[in-house]
Amino acid sequence: MSSDKRVFVCTTSELAPGAMKLVEREDGNLTAYNVEGTFYVTEDRCSHGLASLAEGAIIGDEIECPMHFGMFNIKTGEPTAAPCSIAIRTYPVQIDGEQVFAVVG
Ligand code: FES
Repeated sequence: MSSDKRVFVCTTSELAPGAMKLVEREDGNLTAYNVEGTFYVTEDRCSHGLASLAEGAIIGDEIECPMHFGMFNIKTGEPTAAPCSIAIRTYPVQIDGEQVFAVVG
């Protein structure tokens, strides 16, 4: 039996390529991204501070934090620009019809 939990994040038509969205939830907010037609989900909070990554900017396949402009790879969560040095969590994405879900622990 799986303990995975699916969280609805958006519909496939809701996020155009290059767009992202804040997904608020009690267990920690998420950010959903459309990178060149593929959906990704990460935790929303920057690992460097209290910033919301959904308020940042997508540059290629990276998210730039709005606070100190550190960056992470959206696909892997790895930090790609200082001052970020700790990876953010990424979540597997499942698409059911037009609904996009994140699989959270
Ligand atoms: S809070 Fe994100 S780079 Fe500092």
